[in-house]
Amino acid sequence: MAKSARQAQIEKAALYPLDWTEERTGLVGYTKWFLFRHVPRDVNWMQTLGAATLTAFLVQAITGVFLAMYYKPDPNSAYESIQNISNEVTLGWLVRGMHKWGASLFIILMFLHMARTFLFGAYKYPRELNWVIGVLLLVAGMAEGFTGYLLPWDQTAYWATVVGININATAPFAGPFIAQFLQGGAQIGPDTLAKFYSLHMLVIPGGIMAMIGLHMYLVLRLGVTSPPWSKTAAGRPRPDAEPTGDRTGLTREPSSEETS
Ligand code: HEM
Repeated sequence: MAKSARQAQIEKAALYPLDWTEERTGLVGYTKWFLFRHVPRDVNWMQTLGAATLTAFLVQAITGVFLAMYYKPDPNSAYESIQNISNEVTLGWLVRGMHKWGASLFIILMFLHMARTFLFGAYKYPRELNWVIGVLLLVAGMAEGFTGYLLPWDQTAYWATVVGININATAPFAGPFIAQFLQGGAQIGPDTLAKFYSLHMLVIPGGIMAMIGLHMYLVLRLGVTSPPWSKTAAGRPRPDAEPTGDRTGLTREPSSEETS
C-alpha cells in the first residue's frame, strides 16, 4: 500500500535524528553491526555468564555511587555513617544489601565465567590476550573486595584487614613494602581508611572499566567460540557440505598454493 504524504512526512521526521547522528558519528551503523552480527548457531546458556558478570559489575558501580553520597571515610564517623545508611536513609538498607551481597555474586560469576571459557577452550588462539585480561580482571575484582571490606570500620573489618595486610607482608622481598603501602603508615589507621576508600571507589573500578572495555572489544573483534561439542565449529566440515575425502576438515578443495 502506498504511503500517504503525511505518513512519509512523519517517517522522515522520525528518521531525521538518526540520520543526523549517523552522518556525524557512524554510531547507527555500528549499532546495527553490533545487533545483527553473526554468532555460532549453537551458542549455549553458559555463554551468557560473561554478560551476567558485566551486569553484576554495573549493579556494584551504581549502588556504590549512592553509598558514596552518604559514607564518610574517617575513623571517627565511618561506622556511624554506615549505620545511618542502613537505618535512616530511604532504601539505604536495600542499596547497601545489594552492594554487599552483589560483591560476592560478582566474584562467583567471574569464576563461573572463567570456568566456562576454560572448559570451552576459549582461552586458545586467537583469544589468549582476552584470557590474560580476564585474569587481571579477576585480580582487580578481588582487590575491590579486599579494599571494600575495611570500609564499615567495625571489628570484623579491622581485623580482617590486619590479617590481609600481614599475609601480604610475608611475600618475599616486596612484602614489607606492600604492607607499608597498604597501611599508609606503620599501622592501620586513618590513612589506611582513606587509601582503601580511594582505591576502592576510584582507582580499581577505573581500571576494571578500562579492562572491561578492552575485553569487550576483543570479544566483538574475535567473535564467540562454539561449544566443544559443536558440529559446525571452525575447522570442522558443515554437516550439509559435500565430503572432500581429505582429512584436513576443510569443506572445499585446497588451492594449488596451499598444497604446494
Ligand atoms: C569483570 C569481569 C568480566 C566481565 C564483565 C566479562 C565479560 C565477558 C563477556 C560479556 C564475554 C562474551 C560472552 C561470554 O563469552 O560469556 C566474555 C568473553 C570472554 N571472557 Fe570474560 N569477563 C570477565 C572476566 C573474565 C575472566 C576472569 C576471564 C578468564 C580468566 C575471562 C575470559 C574470557 C574469554 C577467554 C572470553 C572469550 C570467550 C569466547 O570467545 O567464547 N573473562 N567476557
